[in-house]
Amino acid sequence: MSDLRAVIAGIGSYLPERIMLNAEMATIVDTSDEWIVERSGIRQRHIAAEGEYTSDLAIHASQNALDHAGMSIDEIDMIIVATTTPDETMPSTAVKVQAALGMVRGAAFDIQAACSGFVYGLSICDSFIKSGQANTILLVGAETLTRVVDWKDRATCVLFGDGAGAVVVQGRTDADDRGIVATELRSDGRQHDILYANGGPSTTGTAGAIQMKGKEVFRQAVTNLSGVIVDVLKKTDYEQADIDLLIPHQANKRIIDSVAKKMGMRGDQVLVTIADHGNTSAASVPLAMDQAVRDGRIKEGDILLLEAMGAGLTWGACVLKW
Ligand code: UT7
Repeated sequence: MSDLRAVIAGIGSYLPERIMLNAEMATIVDTSDEWIVERSGIRQRHIAAEGEYTSDLAIHASQNALDHAGMSIDEIDMIIVATTTPDETMPSTAVKVQAALGMVRGAAFDIQAACSGFVYGLSICDSFIKSGQANTILLVGAETLTRVVDWKDRATCVLFGDGAGAVVVQGRTDADDRGIVATELRSDGRQHDILYANGGPSTTGTAGAIQMKGKEVFRQAVTNLSGVIVDVLKKTDYEQADIDLLIPHQANKRIIDSVAKKMGMRGDQVLVTIADHGNTSAASVPLAMDQAVRDGRIKEGDILLLEAMGAGLTWGACVLKW
């Protein structure tokens, strides 16, 4: 019998049916496929249908994660949804997911840490499980970011997409050293103005649209993410060379490449899925991870390093043995 570990028991994701290629984006704003691919690595994004909400994306991803885990909703103690684009100001998107999945016990709530939401969520799951407050948690990252972009601002609207990813995190004492090994969370509220939405319930009474100083966010991302990777590894017995796969937030391929280079990682140690779905904020890491699980790139026993940075600024990393 080993120590209690928070293990990923199942994973799933969901992307809305409608795909918008860069060529279509060029009919909306003054841009080109060439510019978007070269500057960001994005080739297409998925757009939620009219009447399709963040909760709908979250429900699909959750069901896929439960199926992958071979579990029913009755085994879930808690649902946490990380999102910047909730269906409504209140209640949480998580309680809508709870009702739709038929969960009639436990607790459900949202967390807001922008693009770092899923990594923050993993840290919360680890803490809740180890403190005995919950044993089996459904953690979802879900977003409809295309609803909060300024479709006249070519510097931001080309970057974002809609999607959801979910994991079932379960406390197990027979996992040996599998599961969450360490997490490290950071934020710096002084950096608010480089990435924010210019609205909110308490300010304008509207959702607002994403405003970003792209170059500054890029610079901070490379520095902060490299730093937090070093710091989270210090909490473990692993070194950079032990990492089988880096699963970064999919915001910009050039950021991913710069961080990987700084960390001395080879191309095959880094997961890049941004071309297919753009920046899906809190959904980005579980979406990418699900793709890699399904195509066999992630195998049992692999050491994974997850990282993300977003508005806040917030950032964080997690070392996980699959
Ligand atoms: O998930 C949260 C974290 N977010 C991020 O990590 C995003 C971080 N930032 C970035 O990914 C990059 O800064 C961008 C992709 C947003 C922009 O790339 P960049 O290389 O920093 O370009 P830039 O903003 O310096 O713009 C270069 C040029 C400008 O024209 P001038 O002033 O040189 O004539 C822009 O007006 O590119 C122009 N531009 C565009 N051109 C065609 C900006 N957006 C576009 C566009 N199409 N969509």
